[in-house]
Amino acid sequence: MAISAADIDAWQTELAGKGPQSIVKFALTHFPDLCLSFSGAEDVVLIDMAVKSKLPFRVFTLDTGRLHAETYRFLDTVRTHYGITLEVCYPEAEAVRELVSKKGFFSFYEDDHKECCGIRKVAPLRRQLATTTAWMTGQRKDQSPGTRNDVPLVQYDTSFEGLEGPLAKFNPLANWSSSEIWDYIRALEVPYNPLHEKGFVSIGCEPCTRAVLPNQHEREGRWWWEEATKKECGLHLSNLTPPT
Ligand code: ADX
Ligand code: SF4
Repeated sequence: MAISAADIDAWQTELAGKGPQSIVKFALTHFPDLCLSFSGAEDVVLIDMAVKSKLPFRVFTLDTGRLHAETYRFLDTVRTHYGITLEVCYPEAEAVRELVSKKGFFSFYEDDHKECCGIRKVAPLRRQLATTTAWMTGQRKDQSPGTRNDVPLVQYDTSFEGLEGPLAKFNPLANWSSSEIWDYIRALEVPYNPLHEKGFVSIGCEPCTRAVLPNQHEREGRWWWEEATKKECGLHLSNLTPPT
């Protein structure tokens, strides 16, 4: 179903004040081909909600080749626990070969993470989104003070080209706090990534993620050698270029 910016405006009004479960149900009802983007962290709650809705949906993950061993195991735990098919997206081998041959395995510490994220995350995401009309993410406002304060529940995503043009992008957890996520995980016995037991809050690629100390913001564990305002990898381009 082709969507317009006006549809999204109307849905923003309709969904305001609704909880994540209702938003997931709404999104899957309107878009049976919706792709849920699963990072292998606490966004597992979206899979739990989607499965419980009993509506069809797709799930994909971007395997950058640099995830923690624990994350690979967790991805498989989730796949078998919920009996879902996980669509796994890979970077172009030739692009990775060129980058690593020229600059080594850790170029992001020298000249920032944009080039590596572009090859390992953004290009595969672009290919995946070309197969659908809508996607869903686990982004929350409280995840990143510099870039996610304004994440809406649903948005018109013109940063990528979907099957029929711009996509509908749902962020059902936008207004939930980290503690609400964890209340849900514990209360409903949702499986979680064991890295969370080792001080990791936000989880991305292994060389670019570290555990945080008590009261340190979760985003400080990501690309810690860079400025807070730059801590987006390009998956969520609309956070960096607000709609005109
Ligand atoms: S990132 O852009 O900084 O890496 P973050 O780790 O905060 O993102 O996760 C926010 C949301 O982006 C996740 O809930 C998920 O929807 C999506 N996402 C992040 N990393 C991946 C990944 N490797 N595969 C699929 N989706 C991802
Ligand atoms: Fe590369 Fe780090 Fe980005 Fe992963 S998070 S794609 S390792 S720069």
